[in-house]
Amino acid sequence: MLVHEGHTNARKFFTSANAGSYDSVVRLATFGQDFAWKRQILQATGRRNSVLELACGTGILSLILAQAGKSVAGLDLTFGYLAAAKNRVQLPLAQGTAETLPYRNESFDAVVSSYLAKYVDVQRVVDECWRILKPGGVAVFHDFAYPDGIMRSFWNTYFYILGFAGRLVTSWKVVFDQLDDVIRKSDWAIKTESALYKRGFQNVSCKYYSAGTAAIISAEKP
Ligand SMILES: C[S@@+](CC[C@H](N)C(=O)[O-])C[C@H]1O[C@@H](n2cnc3c(N)ncnc32)[C@H](O)[C@@H]1O
Repeated sequence: MLVHEGHTNARKFFTSANAGSYDSVVRLATFGQDFAWKRQILQATGRRNSVLELACGTGILSLILAQAGKSVAGLDLTFGYLAAAKNRVQLPLAQGTAETLPYRNESFDAVVSSYLAKYVDVQRVVDECWRILKPGGVAVFHDFAYPDGIMRSFWNTYFYILGFAGRLVTSWKVVFDQLDDVIRKSDWAIKTESALYKRGFQNVSCKYYSAGTAAIISAEKP
């Protein structure tokens, strides 16, 4: 069976050894932008109530959604991250891959994900989102982007420095060393948009944030 390169990266990057420090790392490494991006994801779900978070990780976004009154379920690949989510927020959690979802057809109003798209076969994920979404439901994908222009030089310098910082924190070394290359090579936004159109989603929208360093794509199932 062909193993998607993203799976290899995800299994290498996210482990029980770094689950405990993930929240601080994502907050510091994104200069607090992570919270702002997650608020945008919440906004993209609108008034829809039942939300599935794919790659819920330690549950940062799940908690934001739950505090906004949504009924939330979470799925993630990594046991250590799911254990952290369980400590943060009470919600149904499942271990598995976003490409094969253990949920019934038309069971959610919204499916969201943050930092998942570059690790998966996005067409398979989009097909699964279509299957489990109710008509009128929305799929929202958020991930890092490789910025253009002058910002690109800052971004490259930042990751160069992060590579040095990684030498001090063993559990994050491989991520700080390789994440920039994964983001540079990823065409997740183009692939996601095209997968959404191909599957029949409507009102596909792609917005860039924080000087082009992140993007959020949303689309509705008619
Ligand atoms: C950078 S963390 C993001 C966690 C969370 N979404 C957040 O924004 O804080 C990436 C997460 O994606 C999960 N992941 C990677 N590939 C996955 C897949 N194929 N299916 C489900 N989860 C996956 C990892 O286990 C990890 O928890």
